Amino acid sequence: MSEIAALLDETRTFAPGEAFVREAQVTTRAAWEAAAADPEAWWAEQARSRVEWHTPWTQVLDWQPPRVRWFLGGTLNVAENCLDRHVRTWRRNKAAFVWEGENGDRRTLTYWDLYVEVCKFANVLKQLGVRRGDRVGIYLPLVPEAAVAMLACARIGAIHSVVFGGFSPESLRDRLDDAQAKVLVTADGGYRRGQVVPLKRNADRALEAAPSVQHCVVVRRLPAGAADESFAEMRDGRDHWYHRLMQHADPHCDAAVMDAEDELFILYTSGTTGKPKGIVHSTGGYLVGATTTMQLVFDLRDDDVFWCTADVGWITGHSYLVYGPLANGATCVMYEGAPDWPERDRFWQLCERHGVTIFYTAPTAIRAFMKWGDHHVGKHDLSRLRLLGSVGEPINPEAWMWYRRVVGGDRCPIVDTWWQTETGAIVISPVPGVTHTKPGSATHPLPGYAVQLVDAQANALAKGGGLLTITRPWPSMLRTIWGDHARYEQTYFSKWPGRPDLYFAGDGAKLDDDGYWWILGRVDDVLNVAGHRIGTMEVESALVEHPAVAEAAVVGKHHELKGQAIAAFVTLREGVPASGELRDELREFVAAKIGAIARPDDVLFSADLPKTRSGKIMRRLLRDIADGRALGDTTTLADPSVVASLKEQYESQES
Ligand code: WT7
Repeated sequence: MSEIAALLDETRTFAPGEAFVREAQVTTRAAWEAAAADPEAWWAEQARSRVEWHTPWTQVLDWQPPRVRWFLGGTLNVAENCLDRHVRTWRRNKAAFVWEGENGDRRTLTYWDLYVEVCKFANVLKQLGVRRGDRVGIYLPLVPEAAVAMLACARIGAIHSVVFGGFSPESLRDRLDDAQAKVLVTADGGYRRGQVVPLKRNADRALEAAPSVQHCVVVRRLPAGAADESFAEMRDGRDHWYHRLMQHADPHCDAAVMDAEDELFILYTSGTTGKPKGIVHSTGGYLVGATTTMQLVFDLRDDDVFWCTADVGWITGHSYLVYGPLANGATCVMYEGAPDWPERDRFWQLCERHGVTIFYTAPTAIRAFMKWGDHHVGKHDLSRLRLLGSVGEPINPEAWMWYRRVVGGDRCPIVDTWWQTETGAIVISPVPGVTHTKPGSATHPLPGYAVQLVDAQANALAKGGGLLTITRPWPSMLRTIWGDHARYEQTYFSKWPGRPDLYFAGDGAKLDDDGYWWILGRVDDVLNVAGHRIGTMEVESALVEHPAVAEAAVVGKHHELKGQAIAAFVTLREGVPASGELRDELREFVAAKIGAIARPDDVLFSADLPKTRSGKIMRRLLRDIADGRALGDTTTLADPSVVASLKEQYESQES
């Protein structure tokens, strides 16, 4: 917790630079004032001015806590908003995506190119039997076809569910099955640090137990020839090459007229149980949120080159690599691979080559860049950069200062953006032409949001520490959890009985004397490892599936680069001896079950786990042990000696 204390001593502030303000589109507080006076009217104005509707809504908001609907009666199509309206203008030949593969492959797709590709693929999906409301799984590397597949779904009213390519076959299977997806779009492989990620092979394993999937479309990413046989065994009748289907596809496809409240996509995220939640986003409200925040937070202009480094498998990739930028007609850089491949200056090389003006990445990456050294950045001309963004976890002031000085040349404002898969769009963030920033603080809520700090009894707090809640609905909020509306109510709106109107974000936060927000991280059993959300229960469930494991408890421990790393405390079954090999085996077992992002850093074997007399595992104590802190109060433990011996073991293993 010393980090947090340090955060709150932070007194440096940075006013937006003069040169930035001179050109910025938002330089006054008018939007906050208008939104505060009448939030519904303000959002309605954003919806009217930023989105094209087929029929206007008849009611802005229907809020029956916690059930919400926005822009009732309004109809639109998201793909039309992202493509058709631009190809009607000079933007037709503007680059939508400037893509680089890790292996150096390059492609640029103009808005026209993307439009044609999306229409064709929409027709392909229709031919495969996909109808309005059907679910389509997308399991791809970061290639333009990922955006094509998403937009093609949006065009015909199908609901996409993108699964990050780093997830295991089993994780993919669970998600396809939960959504009852009809079609899966994958690739023969993708590149990561020079290795091929065998997506099709993973998909084949997932499809063995996902009977709802009738067709699998395979994008060819690997060089033709060898790839066919080794990475993509095509099963007759079920599997189809993307490029073959596209060859004769009709480039004309009318966009389906969708209701504002129709589902646009499902995106699975970890929660406090072993089962990931399918977060459901709407068509109208989501687009309004993504497009408004894209413009406000990133001060987006037509001559910008915007690079969001997130994968489409995460919400950041949905809102700020695809929907937000395209709805605004922006040019986006998309890069498939790792930041240190082939060298540690790959990102800066990309920034220079493509003339990136706005760069949006995660603190875990920034900390790695900082560690690798300034010279990698110094090798490249980054003078076109004008704005930097951060997302995914709290950024420590040291990393913030480094980002500003070394990457931003002391001239680019930093927007530290707090939001969640559930919020769909950025909630707390500086507006770069207005906000004075403090290193490590996400500053203030954007216009239109009602963020409230509360204590454990839901009493409003004006400053100090507490829990982050949102007291009024916002357009891009999640609508439900796929197939489990009760879990939606229970997870987000039932922490305080009698307050079904209060959205509980799951984060702890502090408000300082100047009214700045400092996000302290999750207060539930959810970890944030390198900006990725992982449930402790998910990892525990994976561990106990191993025949050697009787019981497991998983906690987060502080990690210099990743923010948090996973530490697992494991009790073995009677007669199974602990060994270094078993420890490695368990780490790999979890990685294979969930995906490499969930691989525990530490596995500690223990004859017992510290439990209360009622049998609850005391994670707090395990966290103390994993972080090497003095043990907190142990008086409620059934057997206090357990934890002392665990601590001893842990420390001897570390050294
Ligand atoms: C959780 C949401 C939002 C896209 C990426 C993650 C943490 C996110 C920040 C930030 C401090 C942050 C929170 C939040 N988080 N952004 N700028 N400062 N913490 O999406 O996987 O849904 O995770 O990430 O703990 O609850 P996600």
